[in-house]
Amino acid sequence: MTTIRKAVFPVAGLGTRFLPATKAVAKEMLAIVDKPLIQYAAEEAEKAGIDTLIFVVGRTKNSIIDHFDKAYELETELAIRNKDALLQIVKDTVPEGVNCVFIRQSEALGLGHAVLCAEAAVGNEPFAVILPDDLIDNEGDNCMQQMVAVYDKHQGSVIGTQTVDMSESDKYGMVAGPKVEDRVAMVDEIIEKPEPAEAPSDQAVVGRYILTPAIFDVLKTTERGAGGEIQLTDGIAALRKTEEIFSYSFEGTRYDCGSKIGYLQATVEFALKHDELADEFGNYLRQLEV
Ligand code: G1P
Repeated sequence: MTTIRKAVFPVAGLGTRFLPATKAVAKEMLAIVDKPLIQYAAEEAEKAGIDTLIFVVGRTKNSIIDHFDKAYELETELAIRNKDALLQIVKDTVPEGVNCVFIRQSEALGLGHAVLCAEAAVGNEPFAVILPDDLIDNEGDNCMQQMVAVYDKHQGSVIGTQTVDMSESDKYGMVAGPKVEDRVAMVDEIIEKPEPAEAPSDQAVVGRYILTPAIFDVLKTTERGAGGEIQLTDGIAALRKTEEIFSYSFEGTRYDCGSKIGYLQATVEFALKHDELADEFGNYLRQLEV
């Protein structure tokens, strides 16, 4: 049995970088080939043994709630037409034994505040946080599976990280600390979106966390930080004063699907691996004279 049973998906952000596409549709519902970003995130959690998916939604995010609801009319229609494969795809959106919880974040006060909104649903146990904008692909164990293994071994909060160009430090939470073993380090410092000159290292936080429930009390007193928001990074920095926290440089490729270029890169890479599309799309790309 896994130690981590619950995952929080903070999905209240406005997605302004994709307007007008995200005017009426949640940015997490944008598809990479044929699957919405939020479903990639949910499947990553499920593969890691997580059975309770907690979505912290804002207004205009009803499409996410609908996506994880049972689609009676669609399922009946597909069954009548004997479209068994499609019916299975629809049913697999929420596999047997997986529960979904939806919580409204009524004010956009930041990622730390969104996580705090999930307190009652999480309760007093360690939990995962997954930001669906960060799509992480790996041949072997997925990012959350790897992080659960690190949690099980070290019994402390784990922050997913990757190396970035220092010039990009102001887009990320940045961490530093001594190495513990291959890919694992202590977090001594963690700062939200520092200027390159202030960044403690080139290790950036990506959208994967395993946190102990002590984070909730800390977030209740976390003041507004970068961008005037209650930052999860600042909460983690405060938690660091009472608990050991680990960073984990995951194996895999991360696509920043919150940016247009990252979204397009993921689309091309996933299409080139897609059963139905790989050959035709590969041929198409090769004949483009760009
Ligand atoms: C959030 C976090 C930041 C982290 C990033 C990863 O920022 O606040 O620490 O590095 O996600 O994607 P956002 O991208 O929401 O501004």
